[in-house]
Amino acid sequence: MTRSARPGAMPRRRSTRALLASACVAALGITALPAAAAPSTLQEAAGMNDGRYFGTAVPAHLLNDSANMTIVNREFNMVTAENEMKIDALQPNQGQYSFGTADRIVNWARTNGKGVRGHTLAWHSQQPQWMRNMSGQQLRRAMLDHVTTVATHYRGQIHSWDVVNEAFADGSSGARRDSNLQRTGNDWIEAAFRAARAADPNAILCYNDYNIDDWNHAKTRAVYDMVRDFKARGVPIDCVGLQAHFNSGNPVPNNYHTTIENFAALGVDVQITELDIEGSGQSQAEQYKGVTQACLAVARCTGISVWGVRDNDSWRASGTPLLFDRNGNKKQAYHGVMEALTEGLGNGGGAPAPGPTTPPPGNGGGGNTAACTATYSEAEKWNDRFNGRVTIRANRDISTWTSTVTVGDRQEIIATWNGTPSWDRSGKVMTMRPNGNGNLRAGQEVSFGFTVRHGGDWTWPRVTCS
Ligand code: G3I
Repeated sequence: MTRSARPGAMPRRRSTRALLASACVAALGITALPAAAAPSTLQEAAGMNDGRYFGTAVPAHLLNDSANMTIVNREFNMVTAENEMKIDALQPNQGQYSFGTADRIVNWARTNGKGVRGHTLAWHSQQPQWMRNMSGQQLRRAMLDHVTTVATHYRGQIHSWDVVNEAFADGSSGARRDSNLQRTGNDWIEAAFRAARAADPNAILCYNDYNIDDWNHAKTRAVYDMVRDFKARGVPIDCVGLQAHFNSGNPVPNNYHTTIENFAALGVDVQITELDIEGSGQSQAEQYKGVTQACLAVARCTGISVWGVRDNDSWRASGTPLLFDRNGNKKQAYHGVMEALTEGLGNGGGAPAPGPTTPPPGNGGGGNTAACTATYSEAEKWNDRFNGRVTIRANRDISTWTSTVTVGDRQEIIATWNGTPSWDRSGKVMTMRPNGNGNLRAGQEVSFGFTVRHGGDWTWPRVTCS
């Protein structure tokens, strides 16, 4: 998964790392590692598509449901609290915060190596009674206090925040939704984003909404215009969250890829944040596959979260909108997602070839037109670090190769093996070259490895090969 480059990223010292790297090469003496196995879970398959994540919502009342949490742990590497980080849950009385339940979810996620999407700091809905009674500057101050207090409480623990949720009206007006927050002044959204950035400078800050999936809808265009304006004026926004709640009256649009691409072209990440699709069987599976393909087709669509695990736990259970049935069995919909996530991988996919940042629609990245492809796979994990492996596959005879590994702002590569590394000025992009000659025959593979000190960010690094 990528994140927006942001000023202020700390340059890393390269000399220590280079020393560690060569020490490791010498100590481990590792040569070629075996090729990555076929992915068997959503998180693994998503990660092989340029480090994307696959997440789910988790409500607190299912934390003790071992059948549910077994699936969460196995299949997903991103968690959203379904209701427990909403304003009414976190600040039931003004100035009295109640973090306990939300903390349980965050702690479970972090203990199990998952990222956390924070949902949500400012919203017209799920406000506690005291906030619903407020207006004007008093409400504006209370909203900003909430944003600051909550984002500060979770500073460094949240992958992405839904800073503002559902602030635009449905229908053809393209207007802001009328709400007590909107009536405090049109600048309430940007004020919330600035407060969130100040409180947690490393979190990805998202605007999140539903019915902004169809590029031809007025609401989609209105959000697009706001994001473009924010980017032009330096309002700190990093991401647009497409909730993606679909049913027969609101099906997956056939221009979904265009919507995602257009938002991404504004210089923000796109995350699919609450995906569910009512239906069953083949039709549901095809729609899930289509959404997944649309995301994979755009490099900055960095992850997908579904809004729950088993159908009967969904907020709209009667529509059986999720990937697992009530008994926790994988549905056709699950296999549709997996098909999309794995269809590019047979070509050594996973990492897009250098050049255009957006692979063709339906291609999960890579393809076999590049001379080589790089595939990331995760290896050992510890509390503070993890090992990653990149497998380079030659698509035709090549005489050498170069691979880049890009890590997140909080991550640092502290050791490497089976290659000769160098770093860019930011310290975030490692270029790996072969030890000795890099001759590979078509179809041949070679691997190198590295250790990342993750700083709380378990995101898979992005990898490329040229
Ligand atoms: O926990 C109480 C329970 O004690 C009480 O007996 C019961 C009676 O109504 O209500 C329970 O709370 C419900 C809560 O879900 C937990 O199940 C609330 O009434 C109900 O309003 C709440 O619904 C949530 C809804 O947001 C409203 O906040 C759904 O679970 C949740 O899935 C849904 O999620 C939203 C996203 O936040 C934003 N995008 C849309 C999405 C779906 O509506």
